Amino acid sequence: MISLFVALALTAAPVTEPALGDPSIKPHYPTLPVITDNEHLFDQFGGKPGLTALIDDAMNRWLVNPRTRPFFEHADQARIKDLLVKQFCVVLHGPCTYDGRTMAESHRGLNIREGNFYALVEELQIAMNKRGIPFSAQNRLVAALAPMHRDIIAK
Ligand code: HEM
Repeated sequence: MISLFVALALTAAPVTEPALGDPSIKPHYPTLPVITDNEHLFDQFGGKPGLTALIDDAMNRWLVNPRTRPFFEHADQARIKDLLVKQFCVVLHGPCTYDGRTMAESHRGLNIREGNFYALVEELQIAMNKRGIPFSAQNRLVAALAPMHRDIIAK
């Protein structure tokens, strides 16, 4: 699974994050990839209630996994979960608006390493499997999220 993820990350299109420090670009500039070629994808995740349950389970796992726990245990978990649900909803072409910060902004200074990133994705994949989300649908989401690693992992 990790190798699939790495392959996706390496072959993904360049990320659309706006240049940092450019005052003409608003923090909420729509930088999210949206998967528009599959009208069933959002439903395959169980719509908004399904995404909410998925992110709840994933956050519980991130709070247990030693490679992700230090980042989340003192963070505002409810806020992050709410924004993740909205973000995934937008990516899956659901009827939502993402009103959080860009990935570069929200992860700057957290010193996130590759191992932390892979651990987070792995726990998400376990949570998706547990909910019976079709493997093909899981892969579409992971492929869309993969390019974000460039903005999240510390340089
Ligand atoms: C594809 C991978 C990831 C996605 C899609 C993602 C998404 C998000 C979103 C939507 C937010 C909220 C934005 C905001 O605060 O306005 C957030 C915040 C946060 N993320 Fe991530 N994230 C990812 C990877 C990671 C990783 C690997 C870690 C650490 C292991 C991490 C730790 C955090 C923390 C601690 C915050 C809260 C920061 C704060 O409140 O200042 N994220 N992330």
